[in-house]
Amino acid sequence: MLKRFEKVYGIDLGTSNTVIFERGKGIVLNEPSVVAIDQNSGGILAVGTQAQAMIGRAPAHVEINYPLMNGVIANFDMTTNMLDYFMKKIQGRSSLLRGSKVYISMPCGITNVQKRAIMETIVHKGAKKAIAVEEPVAAAVGAGLPINEPIGHLVLDIGGGNCQVAIISLGGIVASNTLNRAGISIDRDIMDYVKRKYNVEIGERTAENIKKQIGTANASAEERSLEIRGRDMVDGLPRSITITSGEIFTIVDDFIKTLVQAISATVELCPPELAGDVIEQGILLCGGCALLEGINERLCMETRIPVHTAADPLECIAAGTGMML
Ligand SMILES: Nc1ncnc2c1ncn2[C@@H]1O[C@H](COP(=O)(O)OP(=O)(O)OP(=O)(O)O)[C@@H](O)[C@H]1O
Ligand SMILES: [Mg+2]
Repeated sequence: MLKRFEKVYGIDLGTSNTVIFERGKGIVLNEPSVVAIDQNSGGILAVGTQAQAMIGRAPAHVEINYPLMNGVIANFDMTTNMLDYFMKKIQGRSSLLRGSKVYISMPCGITNVQKRAIMETIVHKGAKKAIAVEEPVAAAVGAGLPINEPIGHLVLDIGGGNCQVAIISLGGIVASNTLNRAGISIDRDIMDYVKRKYNVEIGERTAENIKKQIGTANASAEERSLEIRGRDMVDGLPRSITITSGEIFTIVDDFIKTLVQAISATVELCPPELAGDVIEQGILLCGGCALLEGINERLCMETRIPVHTAADPLECIAAGTGMML
């Protein structure tokens, strides 16, 4: 039973972003999952947005740490430090989670040991209770789907570090698949491409910017171009080049093909009745890469299943996590 003044949080601990929802308030935090460390003292210099601003621009003694990789915790201590900082930031004092109930979403592929470790950390920080929620289920709740009915829904979450395809019915996951490729791997492919084609090195934030500004999943999209800056690998000097959406399409296209295979493999795993429901209900698309231009229409064309993008693809998992009962 939920007590009247008990605080209830929903946390989506993502590879790229951590989003926190507070019941009764809505989204209270949305910051990059990044920590900047001072290697001389070992102390934390910055977390979240401030740490992200240092990426590619920090002096040698500053190490940029990404506590999560491919949707799971890669550095446990760093993850807890980061969570601690975020909770302090939203509460404005150090009593942190005291007495609150915290729902935290986790990818389907996470091990029980990892799951338990995260929950113990949250309780250790003072929460009365920590409850793990499966990300696709949280996404569906956040998007307002009636998940407890005996009807199949397909959720496709394309985040920074991984993609999850899950078919849910009666509040649980019936079939799922996880891909260790998503937004960050597209950025890396863009960096490799620019290096190979132009002999120019670019930073990860520039690559992400290219993806967001001219990336497209639509083969017949109107050609756009973007001027970018990097370092010439031959003479080591700064150089500007102009890159087009057609070039980025080739990279995105390869990713979309893998995604379509994962969707069909997941549908194959589920009973035919549910597969029929999926065609009728469509695919719920969420995660930051749902914002990639043309991805909705392209997936619809390739799978012949209607695709509905969540109203707020970057925040619906945290919202759904916090709305869990
Ligand atoms: N407008 C946009 N167009 C294309 N990609 C975008 C856009 N906005 C955000 N992204 C991408 O979405 C990704 C982050 O999505 P999200 O916040 O859902 O990931 P995450 O939950 O942190 O990661 P994961 O779920 O894999 O652990 C990043 O790769 C980012 O570049
Ligand atoms: Mg995510």
